Amino acid sequence: MKTAILISGRGSNMRALVDAAREPDFPASIELVLSNRADAAGLTYAADAGIATAVLPHRDYESREAFEAALDTTLREAGIELICLAGFMRLLSDEFVEGWRNRVINIHPSLLPAFRGLRTHERALATGVRVHGATVHYVRAEMDDGPIIVQGAVPVLADDTSESLAVRVLAAEHRIYPLALSWVAGRKARVVAEKVILEGLPT
Ligand code: GRF
Repeated sequence: MKTAILISGRGSNMRALVDAAREPDFPASIELVLSNRADAAGLTYAADAGIATAVLPHRDYESREAFEAALDTTLREAGIELICLAGFMRLLSDEFVEGWRNRVINIHPSLLPAFRGLRTHERALATGVRVHGATVHYVRAEMDDGPIIVQGAVPVLADDTSESLAVRVLAAEHRIYPLALSWVAGRKARVVAEKVILEGLPT
């Protein structure tokens, strides 16, 4: 399935997806890496890997609608069927999300529905949870909401800082995002009544 990855920065999850998609029989091919920031470090990795890249600086557009129209055109012209958000720091409107319904997935660094939004590791430590992690989910207009495809849990250790916890969660992210992409692109994941059914996989 022709897949685009949208990033805004470092792009370590994008890298994990690109690397996974190199495996023979992986059901997604990464056709495009797109950033809303020209200085996103991940763009260099993608270009070096021979993947088409695009930059759409959101500030160049007079409105969210204009930005999203350009984004939509770029994706459709590239024949994209599936979008992976990987540290893409722009909220997508209801209209955009509906236009790509069940064809946009995101990774969030918490066990949703806990800790939507930013600074998740700091908030997990402040709350005193013993288990933290990451979630890959289908995107809905509500931020960090939508049917959950897979989650990766990590322990919170007594001496954790938000940095040490972030490292452990990021390692889980790099494991679960390729798995989620393989399920979605391989049509093993289906949304029924806003829950994900995984076919032929242990539940
Ligand atoms: C990750 O923690 C991801 O879960 C969140 O933003 C961060 C992006 O990191 N949405 P990277 O750009 O993939 O390295």
